[in-house]
Amino acid sequence: MFDPPALLPPDEEGLSYAAMCLTRGGLVAMPTETVYGLAADARNGRAVAAIYAAKGRPSFNPLIVHAPDIDSAARIGRFHAQAETLARAFWPGPLTLVLPLRADAGISELVTAGLDTVALRLPAHPAARGLLRAFGGVVAAPSANPSGRISPTTPQHVIDGLGDKVDVVLDAGASAVGVESTIIGWQDQNHPVLLRPGGLPREAITAALNGIAPAEPAPIAPDSPTAPGQLSSHYAPRAALRLNARQAEGDEILIGFGLIAGAMSLSASGDLGEAAANLFAMLHRADATGRPIAIAPIPAQGLGLAINDRLRRAAAPRSRA
Ligand code: TXA
Ligand code: MG
Repeated sequence: MFDPPALLPPDEEGLSYAAMCLTRGGLVAMPTETVYGLAADARNGRAVAAIYAAKGRPSFNPLIVHAPDIDSAARIGRFHAQAETLARAFWPGPLTLVLPLRADAGISELVTAGLDTVALRLPAHPAARGLLRAFGGVVAAPSANPSGRISPTTPQHVIDGLGDKVDVVLDAGASAVGVESTIIGWQDQNHPVLLRPGGLPREAITAALNGIAPAEPAPIAPDSPTAPGQLSSHYAPRAALRLNARQAEGDEILIGFGLIAGAMSLSASGDLGEAAANLFAMLHRADATGRPIAIAPIPAQGLGLAINDRLRRAAAPRSRA
């Protein structure tokens, strides 16, 4: 929307302007106590796609949903007893909980990368809380740096890295914690797992859980990606998936793109942002037909890199159950 971004103080006027940008599907650099986040409306698939495009992320990793309060978080994820204990002990603060996603959560599947779990966090920073209140919804926000670069802890880092790609940078000075949040997931509801060490020490979590220490995640297979979110299995359709298809063969259901129409289309106009926003929902829809899936070629540029990455993973032989 704007070029260069508006650099605004997180006062009432700045926050309501930033909230309006979120409502319109824009991107806001949001100060948090850990690092600056690149926030978009978590319900708006196009806006979430714009996060990936701005960061130049070569794949769709699931993103953290930032909520203003525990009640709104509980409308998105299902809290079990240990999760509730940790939320009450450490929220708001540098802790992210990975919980089962509610069916009616209403957030874009691009946020969870099609997983049936969701990462949730209540940031403590007054500017983040003020923005979430003014916006009146939940935002998806990875760290506000270009993919592969270090996380930003000042507004200048954000401007240096993402400059013209964000609409608003809320300037709240340096982040106090400076490392990302600690991420806790569960094997089952009694067995917590430390998915990413971060701003909240593991010992504090163990103490709050009466001595139950979150386990280290299972070792990663040599050929698998190492990002924390990729330790859990990603969405793959049950059916066979054929890539770069120009037409359906046999009983296949074809997902189109651009000039290739198909039974449904990721984007009839060939818009990669629209295609990214539709990707996981359409894979789910096609899979629900029980037929093998074919998908049109997607150009390997911009968001097309991430789309193709996900499609290759979804089409790969299932080595891990
Ligand atoms: O402190 C933070 O957490 C910052 C600020 C902005 O809140 N955010 C942040 O986001 O570090 P990001 O996208 O850089 O890291 C999110 C991590 C990723 O490694 C992702 O794989 C993991 O969270 N993640 C998200 N959803 C997940 C899920 N459902 N299961 C497992 N891991 C998940
Ligand atoms: Mg990051």
